[in-house]
Amino acid sequence: MSSNETRRPMTVPGLAEARAEGRKLSMLTAYDAGFARAFDAAGVELVLVGDSLGMVVQGRGSTLPVTVDDMAYHTACVARGLEYALLVSDLPFQADATPERALDASTRLLQAGAQMVKLEGAGPKLDVIRFLVEREIPVCAHLGLTPQSVLRFGGFKVQGREQPAADRLRAEALAVAEAGAALIVLEGVPAALATAITAGSPVPTIGIGAGPGCDGQVLVMHDMLGLDAGRRPPKFVKDFLAEGGSVAGAARAYVAAVRDGSFPGPAHSYA
Ligand code: KIV
Repeated sequence: MSSNETRRPMTVPGLAEARAEGRKLSMLTAYDAGFARAFDAAGVELVLVGDSLGMVVQGRGSTLPVTVDDMAYHTACVARGLEYALLVSDLPFQADATPERALDASTRLLQAGAQMVKLEGAGPKLDVIRFLVEREIPVCAHLGLTPQSVLRFGGFKVQGREQPAADRLRAEALAVAEAGAALIVLEGVPAALATAITAGSPVPTIGIGAGPGCDGQVLVMHDMLGLDAGRRPPKFVKDFLAEGGSVAGAARAYVAAVRDGSFPGPAHSYA
């Protein structure tokens, strides 16, 4: 998009249109109005209020302590900063344990300004997805390295490397789309698997640590800005501040790299 004069707000149907036209979707997390405004102006199509806020904003070791109150507060802050980007908000740990709980939590997030909710997993979540979609709540499914499964996984580990796990992930992607999810985030999966899932998926995929073959990419804003708190960043992370020179410049560089397919490259992908 060359200028904001010709830019239209992203919508849920617009995600499938972008995919059909071969336009890669860029997504960043944000947790407040200021960064949301900067990312929106830089041209990101989607902003995610991730429950990663538990780690990058609240300083906790996982996303598990994040509450619906936390998500609603940050969603309302981010919504005030957006004009064009579609606002996706995470259902935090166990807020989607039953369809009814998920409906209550999603209603709060949509009333705070979200336009789509994201939830992790398939299996029992398929009924939750169906229940929400039938009640006019757009859903993004999140598969692969689902951070709310960190205790079962024994850490933040790449998923789908063995054939049975890869087959399961492919089946899950089809199942969440069949249940009504309009978007799928694939996190921490081998690039070839993410490419295959994307090719077979009826809905767009957004990758993070999933290689270049997805329909779009997402990064946690702190990772995109090189805020690694002294820790070695994961392989899929790229510091765009180094080349962008400012927060706005970094976001523009990220959007451009996602659109032209130069990010993520092989150095940012798992085999
Ligand atoms: O919570 C989050 O920020 C996320 C992204 C990592 C996709 O779910």
